[in-house]
Amino acid sequence: MEKLTQSNEIEVLTLAELTEEELQLLEKAKAISVQAYAPYSNFQVGAAVLLENGKILQSSNQENVSFPAGVCAEQLVLGYAGANFPDQAVKILAIAARRTGDEVWAKVSPCGICRQNINEVEQRFKSPIRMVFLRPDGLVYRMEGIKHLLPLKFDDLTS
Ligand code: THU
Repeated sequence: MEKLTQSNEIEVLTLAELTEEELQLLEKAKAISVQAYAPYSNFQVGAAVLLENGKILQSSNQENVSFPAGVCAEQLVLGYAGANFPDQAVKILAIAARRTGDEVWAKVSPCGICRQNINEVEQRFKSPIRMVFLRPDGLVYRMEGIKHLLPLKFDDLTS
């Protein structure tokens, strides 16, 4: 029997260890999370991306009374980036989340569908996306590419 062992690398860093760009994106993600439309979950997520050309885009999650029709913050911001800047790779994605009314930041990590969407953007531009997720304790998860969050990912229809 063959056994595959896959390893992923996720850094846990203090804010002081982040780059200026990463810090700026996290601030954008925090700020936009306030504008989430999340009356059903009360979980307000902000996602910000840095494009290759230096442009920063951000979005929050937008829910629906028919729950599956709601859209995650990551999916919205990546969709907007692809629709409006089709020739620009996404370099960094930052996420922060908070429960409505809370002062403290919540634990957050992209859902499965968002991971697949992040993978698609990486495939599209042939460039891994660095990701930073704010943790409730003020530390930050950082990883270089979706492979660290999506082992055995589905990314090829031809082979
Ligand atoms: N959500 C996001 O927008 N991004 C994540 O990374 C996790 C979950 C949204 C979906 C839904 O509107 C709410 O948070 C609760 O799941």
